[in-house]
Amino acid sequence: MLVFVPPHPLVRHWVSVLRNDQTPCPIFKNAMAELGRILIYEASRDWLPTVTGEIQTPLGVASVEFIDPREPVMIVPILRAGLALVEHASSILPATKTYHLGVSRDEETLQPTIYLNKLPDNLPEGCRVLVVDPMLATGGTMVAALDLLKDRGIANHQIKVISAVAAPPALQKLSEKFPGLHVYTGTIDPVVNEKGFIIPGLGDAGDRSFG
Ligand code: PRP
Repeated sequence: MLVFVPPHPLVRHWVSVLRNDQTPCPIFKNAMAELGRILIYEASRDWLPTVTGEIQTPLGVASVEFIDPREPVMIVPILRAGLALVEHASSILPATKTYHLGVSRDEETLQPTIYLNKLPDNLPEGCRVLVVDPMLATGGTMVAALDLLKDRGIANHQIKVISAVAAPPALQKLSEKFPGLHVYTGTIDPVVNEKGFIIPGLGDAGDRSFG
């Protein structure tokens, strides 16, 4: 499994804004969206099908390359917090389809429950899927989401995970269950506490984004 933290000062900037407990809700949500924009840009590098040809410019003929609209990227935001991280996705990816997944984690057992699943039974063969959730803590939520994709025949190499902060328990679980997966994250933090929160982390991303 590849885990990539883009070495870019803007990534570190937006993660720092998110970490600050003085950051108010609208600023937090905007920072999450900006971080998502950068991570999705990085994840889509060398990953988007294109069509090539020639077009007439005002002064000549040029070779051109466009993103192929017939092969949209499937975006799967995990509610709630994934909605903030994915907010700018459609402004940087010319062709997307979005399928929402609602997953809540039990505060006591930390087990995930899927309460909304808008994934179709059949996804296009060979499609590319971005699964977006700011927090990879114990990893239970992301495993539940990726299992739904696996059930639909999506291979690990077709999936990229986008997160703001990832912790070792989640990365360990994902690498064991989904070898070949690519994870793009703003930072990796060392600890998940007994309540399932990433330390130092950025708090409850859902509550801080949506109040
Ligand atoms: C949080 C977070 C992830 C999940 C990560 O969601 O946004 O989805 O927990 O935890 P895990 O890796 O241990 O499974 P939460 O259940 O708080 O829902 P919310 O986004 O609606 O607040």
